[in-house]
Amino acid sequence: MGEFFHGRGAVIPARLCGVPLILAIESSCDETAVALVRGETGCAAEVLASVVASQIELHRQFGGVVPELASRNHSLHLHALVEQALQQAGVRVGDIDAFAATTGPGLASSLLIGSTAAKALACATRRPFLSINHLEGHLLSPFVGATQVPAHVALIVSGGHTLLLDVADAGRYLKLGGTRDDAAGEAFDKVGKMLGLPYPGGPEIEICAREGNPGAYAFPRSMLHEAHLDFSFSGLKTAVLYTLQRELGQVSVVDVAASFQQAVIEILVAKTLAAAQRCSRRTIALSGGVSLNQALREAFAQACGRAGLELVLAAPNLCTDNAAMIGFAALLRHLAGESSPLDGDIHPHLPLL
Ligand code: KG4
Ligand code: ZN
Repeated sequence: MGEFFHGRGAVIPARLCGVPLILAIESSCDETAVALVRGETGCAAEVLASVVASQIELHRQFGGVVPELASRNHSLHLHALVEQALQQAGVRVGDIDAFAATTGPGLASSLLIGSTAAKALACATRRPFLSINHLEGHLLSPFVGATQVPAHVALIVSGGHTLLLDVADAGRYLKLGGTRDDAAGEAFDKVGKMLGLPYPGGPEIEICAREGNPGAYAFPRSMLHEAHLDFSFSGLKTAVLYTLQRELGQVSVVDVAASFQQAVIEILVAKTLAAAQRCSRRTIALSGGVSLNQALREAFAQACGRAGLELVLAAPNLCTDNAAMIGFAALLRHLAGESSPLDGDIHPHLPLL
């Protein structure tokens, strides 16, 4: 499930086959991405091209994303990425049935670049424009390549969001819980910084954790046993800070990384399984940058196996920000007959519901 055709060329222009073809742009934060996705109702969608220009190296020297640099770089790279995606897919702008872009949530100046470009293409070709919620992109990413989106409980874990949702169907979402402070990825990034690791901390902590003892430090599992399905990661982050201050340079970075990662994993797994039980869902889907974490994927696989639940994971290249997931969300809306006005605004703080 979720097989990804990174940059594979299509032999026959999609429009000639009569299968709707979407060009999608993602520029909500520090990745500029363009994808071409096509599909029909009841059939698996096909990603004809998906290209991403990451700005991680650019922002690393500042220890986090600098919004003005991000938007200027989106503007610099977007045109070339659109050309590259078209070439890889073997299609022309005139073959495209609808243009989509992420319009929120995200950095305002970054969202404006991608959405304005997609609107301009839609306007010039007289094709519809689709305004897509970044979170819906993540939410649906485990099902790119599937023939349907089944009823399930979804956990989105990214740098900006930690969200638990009950999904009845594509487009029918009920929020079950979210973070009350830091997002899971934000906690990884902040703890990475405390440990002196490069930005973003998530992948760096995962590498360190492989060498460490996850039982070395008893970090708190906030809200683990409370009845609600919300999360809190700021207490965990502070506990790491106090440990580092107390042990003044004597601390084992790999043990702290492993113990911190273990605490995050236990909280995410326990709350998500509790949500599935509460909603009587038999399927759990994971998405977002943090879901790239191999230890998290394995912990979910084991817990779901024990509970007899099906686990659907986003393909690794669909976990962090990409335009294929935006194209897939747009395709489902396009097939449902939806489109968005060209004078619609961006929404930096847009919730999913
Ligand atoms: O989904 P994403 O690309 O962007 C947002 O929409 O926020 O997620 C980025 C986040 C960052 O916080 C990054 O540290 C985290 O995902 N991340 C990871 C891993 N890879 C990326 N966290 C833990 N383990 C990883 N392997
Ligand atoms: Zn994201």
